[in-house]
Amino acid sequence: MAYKIAVLKGDGIGPEVVDEALKAFDALGRKKNIKFEYNYALIGGRAIDETGVPLPAETVEACKNSDSVLLGAVGGPKWDTLPGDKRPEKGLLEIRKNLGLYANLRPAKLYGPLAGACPIREEFRRGGVDIMLVRELTGGIYFGERGRVSGANGEEAFDVERYSAMEIERIARTAFEVARKRSRKVTSVDKANVLESSRLWRSVVNKIAEGYPDVALEHMFVDNAAMQLVRNPSGFDVILTSNIFGDILSDEASMVAGSIGILPSASLSEGKLGMYEPIHGSAPDIAGKNIANPLAAILSAAMLLRYSLGLEEEAEIIENAVLRALEEGWRTADIGTGADRGKILSCTGMGDKIASLL
Ligand code: IPM
Ligand code: MN
Repeated sequence: MAYKIAVLKGDGIGPEVVDEALKAFDALGRKKNIKFEYNYALIGGRAIDETGVPLPAETVEACKNSDSVLLGAVGGPKWDTLPGDKRPEKGLLEIRKNLGLYANLRPAKLYGPLAGACPIREEFRRGGVDIMLVRELTGGIYFGERGRVSGANGEEAFDVERYSAMEIERIARTAFEVARKRSRKVTSVDKANVLESSRLWRSVVNKIAEGYPDVALEHMFVDNAAMQLVRNPSGFDVILTSNIFGDILSDEASMVAGSIGILPSASLSEGKLGMYEPIHGSAPDIAGKNIANPLAAILSAAMLLRYSLGLEEEAEIIENAVLRALEEGWRTADIGTGADRGKILSCTGMGDKIASLL
């Protein structure tokens, strides 16, 4: 078996953590006789420095000509003063749109050995934490009309939250399908008490739910959801929500899982092509120090195997190696806190550890 993977390392700690994920692919490839071929391409700040734009056309081509895409992170202080449509983040939004990656799956699971790193007291998470956040990724306020105008009181700015029924339908279906493979419960998060876009969201989700009588559906306002995530995280199974609410709630959910440093994500399209990335971002403050946690990138590689290549067994081999490393007490600095600090490894050290456990 041979697979082509587009590798977009990006900025900050992106290159460091992606290198460790590639180590995992290579180790797995040797064990299972699978050939992974990497097509490296530029995105984000490095792409701006080398080509003048955050998403060069060759990068989109490289992705479309591959079986799947692995991404590190984009952004950093160097590019923070550029105008909005020239920033590294714009490259990420464009690639999501270009590849039609409307469904973003962000699992937030508290691994047993990391319970000590979870800031939520045990009595508030008795049933464990195992959430799959399904975030709409190519619509809403991220892609709505925006601009500046001069108003009665001077300068004004606006960003439009706009959703079509079609966009809501397809992401709702994703959430219900995902829920069927889990505990069959969907919590749809909106702000329907205020926003018209949320009222459409809610009615479309209700309609799609009729096709899934075996899945329980509840609706929750986003402010309440933010509270329930820390009050009773065990109460959630699948969270279905819009682009911006999903952005915010997934960072919150990641802390419930101990550290943002271990959360992977999958961005899926109608077809097989998907993009996989840690949710943590470029973390410029720790870039180049070899202390970043590569587990989110490595677990993203596992999601890539599962969702794009259909290699479920291989995905589990990687996930089990991560669990094993944690059980053996191996930690990176971000998760090596609290009573059970464990044995602290560097970024490359953790990558080597996982590769050896494969
Ligand atoms: C994420 C990130 C991005 C987002 C940024 C970097 C544009 O925060 O993937 O969660 O807001 O979607
Ligand atoms: Mn985010």
